[in-house]
Amino acid sequence: MRKRFVAGNWKMNLERRSALALCAALKDGVGAKSGASVAVQSTVRVAVAPPFVYLAEVVRALEGSVISVGAQDVGDRVSGAFTGEVSAAMLKDVGAHFAIVGHSERRHVYGEGDVLTNQKLLRTLEAGLEVILCVGETLAERQGKQTESVVARQLTKGLASVARADLARVTLAYEPVWAIGTGQNATPEQASQVHQYLRGVLSGLYDEGAAEGLTIQYGGSVAANNAAAILGAPDVDGALVGGASLKAETFLSILAAGTLVPR
Ligand code: 13P
Repeated sequence: MRKRFVAGNWKMNLERRSALALCAALKDGVGAKSGASVAVQSTVRVAVAPPFVYLAEVVRALEGSVISVGAQDVGDRVSGAFTGEVSAAMLKDVGAHFAIVGHSERRHVYGEGDVLTNQKLLRTLEAGLEVILCVGETLAERQGKQTESVVARQLTKGLASVARADLARVTLAYEPVWAIGTGQNATPEQASQVHQYLRGVLSGLYDEGAAEGLTIQYGGSVAANNAAAILGAPDVDGALVGGASLKAETFLSILAAGTLVPR
């Protein structure tokens, strides 16, 4: 049984003080590792992805909690003269557990393609970290009935050269571009449909066991009032949450929804 995985992607938001206040509130809300049994801990895996500059401090702030910390992006090279880049080894060094690659804002605002995304993913796995690979179609692609071909291409190229054994450290996030930051989430049925399709593609690339084992998050305007429906949809294993992860109250409600809906 795949455990639910809900991660908050803070994007380029918050500053030191508000980030640490959010960490404190989340730690309180989710509970310490050794604390009294909290429903969230046993049923939902929780993570946050702060901006690079706050990673180390957020890792320290969340120490002793079940909340893991990841980066929103990662460099595609191992080390060297690559001004502005941050390597996977550096992320590991400051205590990050994973990196997000191929986020739609990287793809569509900064023009990053499948090959670059794949290189980032490979460097992350080589460094011993986990990775969240994002895929998703634009509104024009959905209207042009290209959703399946787009996400299949992003998945296939994103996972190029990834050994089956390493899939255990890969999470997939289906984030339709038209649903991100728009308040217009995909319906649970739309999310389920694409997640099932992605599992089929993965089964072709590897095998059925690999497809069944892969955690697939949905991302795009997940909020307190739609989390239960989305997280309860077949083949939706979790959420990658943007705006609603910036406030403890809403993020905790989303986590609570994840513990309430049956698998
Ligand atoms: P919103 O939840 O703000 O739509 O963002 C989703 C997202 O891009 C998470 O990575």
